[in-house]
Amino acid sequence: DDDDGTAAPGGGAETDTIVVGFSQVGSESGWRAANTKSIQDTLTAENGFELKFSDAQQKQENQIQAIRSYIAQGVDVIAFSPVVQSGWDGVLEEARDAGIPVVLTDRAVDSTDETLYESFIGSDFVLEGEMMGEWVSENLATEPIKVVELQGTTGSAPAIDRKTGFETATADNPNVEIIASQTGNFTRTEGKQVMEGFLQAHSDIDVVYAHNDDMGLGAIEAIEAAGMVPGVDIKIVTIDAVKDGMQALVDGKINYIVECNPLLGPDLADIIKAVVAGEPVEKRIVVKDEAFDQAAATVALPDREY
Ligand code: AHR
Repeated sequence: DDDDGTAAPGGGAETDTIVVGFSQVGSESGWRAANTKSIQDTLTAENGFELKFSDAQQKQENQIQAIRSYIAQGVDVIAFSPVVQSGWDGVLEEARDAGIPVVLTDRAVDSTDETLYESFIGSDFVLEGEMMGEWVSENLATEPIKVVELQGTTGSAPAIDRKTGFETATADNPNVEIIASQTGNFTRTEGKQVMEGFLQAHSDIDVVYAHNDDMGLGAIEAIEAAGMVPGVDIKIVTIDAVKDGMQALVDGKINYIVECNPLLGPDLADIIKAVVAGEPVEKRIVVKDEAFDQAAATVALPDREY
């Protein structure tokens, strides 16, 4: 039944459109672009949604402002990917007080009160870091290696978890030594800048562990500018498996990639529909990720969607 009395074309009952306010982290990476596209391509009028979308440019205050504005507009559901883990309880309480359900996508919040959101869909970032750590330990660290780490955005769930996972998985291998670790904010530009600093400070880097492909691609530029061969003189391992990263893996400039699947739109749409219908939803939906070496990337790249 529709509330405003207008009849749908053809005389049938019009189904109510679900109004969703989505606050995106930013447009920092190829992964983020694919994630945004997946959400915008799925939460369409054709699929029964009206999407209000905002880009927070990697700033928590912008996200809080966007969420407050969605509350004020009285949207049906708020969804967002929190740029950092901490500091959300206040605004999530405001949404709850207004009776607006919240769905987390991609990144977690560290709130202990799980009633502040309905569901959280996204990858297991600790597992991604562990998968990488295991591969590095087994394949690159049969002799002592010096690793530099390009961390994601400070305070973000993927930066915290990918660091932890990697450290846990390499802890039992004394050959793995992390000699420097700094944030490159998940961007190509900052990845390049930080790598330039690492190269100036250390003449003996064996491996770059970048928390995403874009920072790894920035590191490639810095290594080439310093007259070295990326993937050979200095090995590079990254997380995401977006097309540019996979191409670099095929080209031998990156040595291994652990995937992070950005195509969250369809599952997010299903969760939102269930929440609005009052159906039970799972509190945590974990997206499965693969990993690629050069041979696997060569097979996967031609059909890669993002
Ligand atoms: O939260 C997911 C991470 O955010 C991706 O791995 C990275 O590329 C993006 O910026």
